[in-house]
Amino acid sequence: MVKALYDNRLAVDIAGLKMKTPVTTASGTFGFGLEFQDFLDLEKVGAVTVKGTTLEPRAGNKGQRAVETPSGMLNCVGLENPGSDYFIEHTLPELKKIDVPVIVNIAGSTPEEYGELAKKLDIEGVHAIEINISCPNVKHGGIAFGTCPESAAEVVRAVKANTGKPVITKLSPNVTDIVEMALAAQEAGTDALSLINTLIGMKIDIDRRKPVLGNVMGGLSGPAVRPVAVRMVYQVAQKVNVPIIGMGGIMNAEDAIEFFLAGASAVAVGTANFCDPRLAETICQGMLSYLDRHEFKNIQEIIGLALPK
Ligand SMILES: Cc1cc2nc3c(=O)[nH]c(=O)nc-3n(C[C@H](O)[C@H](O)[C@H](O)COP(=O)(O)O)c2cc1C
Repeated sequence: MVKALYDNRLAVDIAGLKMKTPVTTASGTFGFGLEFQDFLDLEKVGAVTVKGTTLEPRAGNKGQRAVETPSGMLNCVGLENPGSDYFIEHTLPELKKIDVPVIVNIAGSTPEEYGELAKKLDIEGVHAIEINISCPNVKHGGIAFGTCPESAAEVVRAVKANTGKPVITKLSPNVTDIVEMALAAQEAGTDALSLINTLIGMKIDIDRRKPVLGNVMGGLSGPAVRPVAVRMVYQVAQKVNVPIIGMGGIMNAEDAIEFFLAGASAVAVGTANFCDPRLAETICQGMLSYLDRHEFKNIQEIIGLALPK
């Protein structure tokens, strides 16, 4: 049972996932949450979304994994994580001591793997599953699930068939038509959507005359991607009827509010955690000031206000 915060003015319900504030942490930018406890009160975060978790442990990519870019960063961490057994045995018991919902971000190489992982995580202490569909589908030539509507739908169906938890499908922006991907996930039964994941980019070291990142390409995140993310939330919100968690370059309350006005029902703070690890908590004060200034009773009232009538 989560304690109320801010007189419930910021509380949201994402397909059964009850959040006392509408702010979660973007997967991969907040560890497993526990690492951040010295900086902020995790019980004042709407939900902790943990690092991408796979069935087996993964070592991640070799070489340089991150580089700063204008107004953002590129990363190619490559889903380094200790695997689902470790998460269930060691991390989840610690997270369960904290009064905060936990969203587990999952990744795999086949729909079956996603299904198996969802089943393993259909346990107490996990409040929702977020599917990272940006992974390559080994059965279909390595094309990312997230860039092919049929493959994305297959993954969503595999996860839904194996869990009773709310399922959030995280969309990749590396597509021509984000609405097509959102509708495919919705038709396959996703309970909610989150967007956006990172945009593929690269940087070249001109003295070495080589790509900077060990994986050559990486995912662009941070303020540089925010206009793309807001645009995609705005487009998707007009076509789907499941709730949306918006993310991409949120640095403060004003940025978060843009996402709500574009149709998001919650937001996630990602890259900003690296410069201000308290942001997922402190951003709420700014959102309350906005509500007061414009005489809105609660956050629900502003969702989608910038959408065409
Ligand atoms: C270092 C790093 C690691 C990430 N790892 C994951 C991951 O494991 N799973 C996932 O779905 N997204 C991952 N992401 C994407 C973020 O969760 C988020 O969708 C994206 O960075 C956009 O938000 P931001 O601009 O606020 O960071 C990662 C991003 C960064 C910067």
